Amino acid sequence: MNILFIGDIVGSIGRNTLEKYLPRLKRKYNVDVVIANGENAAAGRGITASIYQDLLQMGVDVITMGNHTWDNRDIFDFIDDADYLIRPANFSVEAPGKGMVTITKQDVSLSVINLHGRVFLPPHEDPFAMVDDLIAEAKEVSPLVFVDFHAEATSEKIAMGWHLDGRASAIVGTHTHVQTADARIYPNGTAYITDVGMTGPYDEILGMKKESVLHRFKTNMPTRFEVPKSGREQLSGFFVKVDNKTGKAQHCERIYINDDYPFQHES
Ligand SMILES: [Fe+2]
Ligand SMILES: [Fe+2]
Repeated sequence: MNILFIGDIVGSIGRNTLEKYLPRLKRKYNVDVVIANGENAAAGRGITASIYQDLLQMGVDVITMGNHTWDNRDIFDFIDDADYLIRPANFSVEAPGKGMVTITKQDVSLSVINLHGRVFLPPHEDPFAMVDDLIAEAKEVSPLVFVDFHAEATSEKIAMGWHLDGRASAIVGTHTHVQTADARIYPNGTAYITDVGMTGPYDEILGMKKESVLHRFKTNMPTRFEVPKSGREQLSGFFVKVDNKTGKAQHCERIYINDDYPFQHES
């Protein structure tokens, strides 16, 4: 199974950039399944029902979330009906929605799990213990398991990578919006990258207008962060090829597209 993961989609520029490149990426990598992080898809904050539908229409199979899951209150109205949207599994048991979904393509099933880090972030439930239970549940259906670990600290993400080596097909980090150059396959067959990076504005600060972010750094005064509606774009992704029988990763690579690193048609 060929899996394409798209890092945090930020605002309309992020959605438009995905729409522009997704058909080309699907052809280039012969993609079977597309997973995308949508926590910033609605103007940087959360996701709406119509954006959820738009992403599915574009060809995204599963949408993962993160610390911005509840930012757009729309989500409370549709999350329980959104079969292909997952939020971090280690949120409170009181939280609506779910943290894992299993999809099937051409008779091959894949479970996708979303987790939230706890370093420099709110104290959610223990993601290490939670993922053990979820993987055991997923393995009853299929050996193919993909994890989006939405976390800040590189150490916590690398630790989760080793924790899952040989048990997940792939684990990717999201949340920092900056792609790391450490894509690899661990010794027991788990593909890994510390952070996939973001998909959206290229000339701003993590997708937010740079003027307001700079103003806050320079003055320590509260400023409203906004996502621009126009400007240059970037797309950050991760590709992994997984053996359907063993669930082990056979190949992985980073995808990074912008004016400085233009889309390459050949693999
Ligand atoms: Fe985040
Ligand atoms: Fe994000």
